[in-house]
Amino acid sequence: MSNPSLLILPGDGIGPEVMAEVRKIIDWYGAKRDLAFDVSEDLVGGAAYDKHGTPLHDDTMAKAQTVDAVLLGAVGGPKYDNLDFSVKPERGLLRLRKEMDLFANLRPAQCFDALADFSSLKKDVVAGLDIMIVRELTSGIYFGEPRGIIEEGNERVGINTQRYTESEIDRVARSAFELAMKRGKKLCSMEKANVMESGILWREVVTEVGKEYPEVELSHMYADAGAMQLCRWPKQFDVIVTDNLFGDLLSDAAAMLTGSLGMLPSASLGQPMENGRPKALYEPVHGSAPDIAGQGKANPIACILSFAMALRYSFDMGEEADRLEKAVEQVLADGKRTADLLGEEGVTPVSTSEMGDAVVAALDASL
Ligand code: NAI
Ligand code: MG
Repeated sequence: MSNPSLLILPGDGIGPEVMAEVRKIIDWYGAKRDLAFDVSEDLVGGAAYDKHGTPLHDDTMAKAQTVDAVLLGAVGGPKYDNLDFSVKPERGLLRLRKEMDLFANLRPAQCFDALADFSSLKKDVVAGLDIMIVRELTSGIYFGEPRGIIEEGNERVGINTQRYTESEIDRVARSAFELAMKRGKKLCSMEKANVMESGILWREVVTEVGKEYPEVELSHMYADAGAMQLCRWPKQFDVIVTDNLFGDLLSDAAAMLTGSLGMLPSASLGQPMENGRPKALYEPVHGSAPDIAGQGKANPIACILSFAMALRYSFDMGEEADRLEKAVEQVLADGKRTADLLGEEGVTPVSTSEMGDAVVAALDASL
């Protein structure tokens, strides 16, 4: 078997800074765990525009289609704000998502004990929280036809259509069940089957797919009730699967249960490739943070945890993903904080590269 392949796209702003820390971790796995990855690196976003006049070169797109996983930093920045829409840095990322057909967006909400004070919720509600929201990403009301603003009588009417085919629900449900199998074997599906036909079909199809996963405990919840339960007692959940619109809201709400943008990883998965691995793009939730770029202030943990997700969901290296997440947890427990995580007075922040080095040291200590 050949080595797992990884395409790294650092992008713009703090993207290259946080990605440099991930490179240290990849190197550590090669040196200390004998896990060699075939790593290639390329340009995306503004960086690609500067060199090629396009935010994603065709060769990079082709490469992304063949690797086992793509790891992206962030794109965009004020320098590119006045570019034509068709070549804006964000278009590079959108093209990747679209052409790789990444229909399942995975957004974990994970709370490290050392940061539980950061949450707006009570400490015991969030301490140790580890849930995953799977949002359908390529269909639903953001894409359904008809859409538009029309004239009707003497007023304007805004129209969007929620539309889900059986196969669209089936494939995202399958991704969610596969995830649940790798986690706590508990899946909650959220829709509004009480008022939406697309919700009725959603519930039926998820239930049908569930018959193929008898080990997974499946439940259903109306999405509004789900929003309440997420705020009340989020630890009741393991994996949640929901549509594009509800997932947009629920994943942002759930993420903020745990605190800083600098801590949040994500994954977007598509269909399984010939080798059985899903097409996959891993990236931190945050953007290019031009306000702190180039100053060594960025928190690299969101990007590091995105790589941990790649270990778990693309490379079937769950134990190594655990090791990396525990190393991050250890570093935080030791009191290391980048500037975005500073709460207490009198704590001196560590730099981006000091944080990366601390994670590598914690990995060493795990052996
Ligand atoms: P942003 O996520 O870049 O920054 C929001 C705030 O959070 C800033 O104050 C920033 O300093 C802070 N922050 C973000 N990541 C951090 C980290 N790792 N460590 C410490 N602090 C961090 O969002 P913003 O400012 O709305 O957008 C800036 C640029 O990024 C824009 O060009 C936008 O289009 C782009 N963007 C790109 C995304 C992507 O590549 N997926 C996602 C969101 C925005
Ligand atoms: Mg959103």
